[in-house]
Amino acid sequence: MTQEKDKVFIFDTTLRDGEQSPGATMNMQEKFRLAQQLVKLNIDIIEAGFPVASAGDFDCVKNIADNIKGVQVTGLARTNQKDIDAAWEALKNGENPRIHTFLATSDIHLKHKLKMTRDQVLDLAVSSVKYAASKTPNVEFSAEDATRSDLDFVCRVFEAVINAGAKILNFPDTTGYALPDEFAAQIRYLIENIPNIDQAVLSVHCHNDLGLAVANSLAAIKAGVRQVETTLNGIGERAGNTAMEELVMAIRTRADLMDVRTDIATEYIHPSSRMVSSITGMPVQPNKAIVGANAFAHESGIHQDGVLKERTTYEIMNPCDIGLSEGGSLVLGKHSGRHALKDRLKTMGYAALTDVELNRVFSRFKELADVKKDMVDEDLEAILLDEVIQIPEIYQLISLGAMSGNKTMPASAVKLMVNGIEKQGAAIGVGPIDSAFRAIAELTGTRSKLLYFAVSSITGGTDAQGEVMVRVEDDGKIVVGQGADPDIITAAAKAYLKALNRLEYLKK
Ligand code: KIV
Ligand code: ZN
Repeated sequence: MTQEKDKVFIFDTTLRDGEQSPGATMNMQEKFRLAQQLVKLNIDIIEAGFPVASAGDFDCVKNIADNIKGVQVTGLARTNQKDIDAAWEALKNGENPRIHTFLATSDIHLKHKLKMTRDQVLDLAVSSVKYAASKTPNVEFSAEDATRSDLDFVCRVFEAVINAGAKILNFPDTTGYALPDEFAAQIRYLIENIPNIDQAVLSVHCHNDLGLAVANSLAAIKAGVRQVETTLNGIGERAGNTAMEELVMAIRTRADLMDVRTDIATEYIHPSSRMVSSITGMPVQPNKAIVGANAFAHESGIHQDGVLKERTTYEIMNPCDIGLSEGGSLVLGKHSGRHALKDRLKTMGYAALTDVELNRVFSRFKELADVKKDMVDEDLEAILLDEVIQIPEIYQLISLGAMSGNKTMPASAVKLMVNGIEKQGAAIGVGPIDSAFRAIAELTGTRSKLLYFAVSSITGGTDAQGEVMVRVEDDGKIVVGQGADPDIITAAAKAYLKALNRLEYLKK
């Protein structure tokens, strides 16, 4: 009989550390939608936010703890009663809620940031963990900047907080400083030198400043940790965190060397990654491992030939395992029916569409299939994000005509439905997109500022759908909008209008 592999718990902090990526702010509905997706992925623990940070953060955590079942929900708290009270208030209705409290242990932080002695830090960690444990037995303690701390001091703190009631001990590489061998040795040192370590789960939380977050997390698992904190697409503070999809697929793909398993439903990885990039407005780089557009694309003739003869010649993972179809994606064409579409959406993780939603997606699918020969998963996702996730459309694009060329003054004529009234206008600009945006700004009367604009091609080929992401700010509110269309100027206008609709919605 083969022995069951040890489980590594996946703690997702996309909604907390991930949201600390510059510009990745998410609103309450977006966080909730992502939390639902994390449940589909079978994440073990969702860190939903930092409740004391703002009323908005508190509401987001509470909304998720109150309504999302089948997963532990946690919220971050510094080691003081106000933070812990706020976290508990937000979390208390959740299933097995966890309080995650943290305090720095490195001398650099003690001297310059906290202005505390080691003994004071030890006392504060213990009293705070005791206070948190008076609310729930499920308490996690993180030693911030642990990898640059004196390990004997971390051992003392961890031993004491276990006695105070902490059940999970997190050893973060807060600054992304560690190298894999060194990190693994640090973990082994903790295991050998904390007498009561068997009463807690050891966890790591790695940052990617040297591009080593996944490598360090894998090394830590091999050294004995059984919880890893990750984010989707690796987003997070500065260079980001351990990318969940990379860690999980490394464990799965190299099962021959990794004596552990995760319970992640990997077939939801790709749709989840798309959801994160569409919500945050942070595109995934094409060569990103696992979820980049090129991750399963074979360009060289030799490679293509090899893959056609036998996929495993150049592919170490099956694209189906992360929710793509065989061959990376191609699935449907213009002759495909509603049933095939429904089936495909189901495999992509969108099983819960209502008939009305499915009809809307189907009719957009048919429109696009008329102009684009091959439809891939990304095309369907772009349609889904446009059609299913509905925010009232105060502004609707009726038509758009743009003129450009190397000897022409770029100009656009735009017709919009604004609050049910048809309006049209025209503008010139430095390029066709600029002129279209100027015309839209005039018709909608928006005073918002465009913070970010990115164009990418969803798939290869000149008939590919262009995808545009914008981030727009008005009166301190920041929203993203995305639009997809074979015509790039139309995609840009759609993205802009989507963002303006979101702003209107938020204002209300
Ligand atoms: O990077 C870090 O140290 C953190 C802790 C709060 C876990 O995010
Ligand atoms: Zn962090």
